[in-house]
Amino acid sequence: MFFLKLSLLTLLVAAPDLLVTAENVITCYGNVQHLRCETGLIRVKSAIYGRTDCSICSIGRPPAQIQNTNCSMKIPLISKRCDGHRVCEFKTDVIGSPDPCVGTFKYYNTTYDCIQARASVTCEDGYSTLDCGNDVIQIFNANYGRTDNKICSEGLPSSLTVNTNCYAPDTLTSVATRCNGRSSCTVQASYTIFTDPCIGISKYLAVSYFCLPQPVQTSVTCEGDNAVLTCGAGILKIQAANYGRTDSTTCITGRPVNQITKNDCYATSTLAEVINRCEGKTTCTVPATNGVFSDPCVYTYKFLTIVYSCVVSP
Ligand SMILES: *[C@@H]1O[C@H](CO)[C@@H](O)[C@H](O)[C@H]1NC(C)=O
Ligand SMILES: *[C@@H]1O[C@H](CO)[C@@H](O)[C@H](O)[C@H]1NC(C)=O
Repeated sequence: MFFLKLSLLTLLVAAPDLLVTAENVITCYGNVQHLRCETGLIRVKSAIYGRTDCSICSIGRPPAQIQNTNCSMKIPLISKRCDGHRVCEFKTDVIGSPDPCVGTFKYYNTTYDCIQARASVTCEDGYSTLDCGNDVIQIFNANYGRTDNKICSEGLPSSLTVNTNCYAPDTLTSVATRCNGRSSCTVQASYTIFTDPCIGISKYLAVSYFCLPQPVQTSVTCEGDNAVLTCGAGILKIQAANYGRTDSTTCITGRPVNQITKNDCYATSTLAEVINRCEGKTTCTVPATNGVFSDPCVYTYKFLTIVYSCVVSP
């Protein structure tokens, strides 16, 4: 879980266009806090209960209840409940104990981003397929349980939907294991897959996820050596390849100037040849030689560049 959160942060730094807007909501104690994203899905950055400002939520309050501005407590439940949803609402008097500062009138201060992600909801016993086309899935949040009494409630007696504080703790890890790095995956909303967190309540599986471009790797091999491509997980997908020379800085050690100055040298058969030897395998070896690719520029010292990704097949 820590790894998932960490990689999400890294990913937001690497792909800032995922961020849509940044929001802040302050709710005085006892009222309903309502978070909403017009575009994208909620990602809570900080959720604090207490008082750090004397004017907010102070109307009609005696000084004794508002003078302590050094009171704050983190409320992790808000991110657990709201991350990955478009709208999230809860009554604030039911969360936030033990009281971080008895006698002070407190408020809930939640800051969140709206990020570009997709959401999927599957009612109890149903299946749904997450599909990223040519991209790969990265799960953002997932819960099997119930946090809302309207979702998947049509025709059900209210006794089956009353508990809206129901979480299966193993959902995120389980869904991430099945789906991360794949182009599509099927998930099932069933107590046979997740631990039943609230027996007797009708549950659903809510999943939010990103579609990310497949991470590409580049392999460079000097003429005469072997390129060895290996996927730790998944199979090789070759994106681009060239045997020749396209700059005067790669593979130059000990080479005379006249062998490295030409930088527009391409063997047109390279991509087809590398695909033939590598595509769909977990590992492959390709000699960077004229014997394999024929010589696209005689007297120039060449190198083989291969751009590839490792794809987990659905
Ligand atoms: C709300 O929380 C944010 C982030 O921690 C903080 O910068 C801001 O000052 C807080 N606002 C109030 C009114 O407490
Ligand atoms: C605020 O509270 C913290 C922890 O309760 C305490 O260590 C700190 O000294 C307090 N600061 C002020 C200015 O009262």
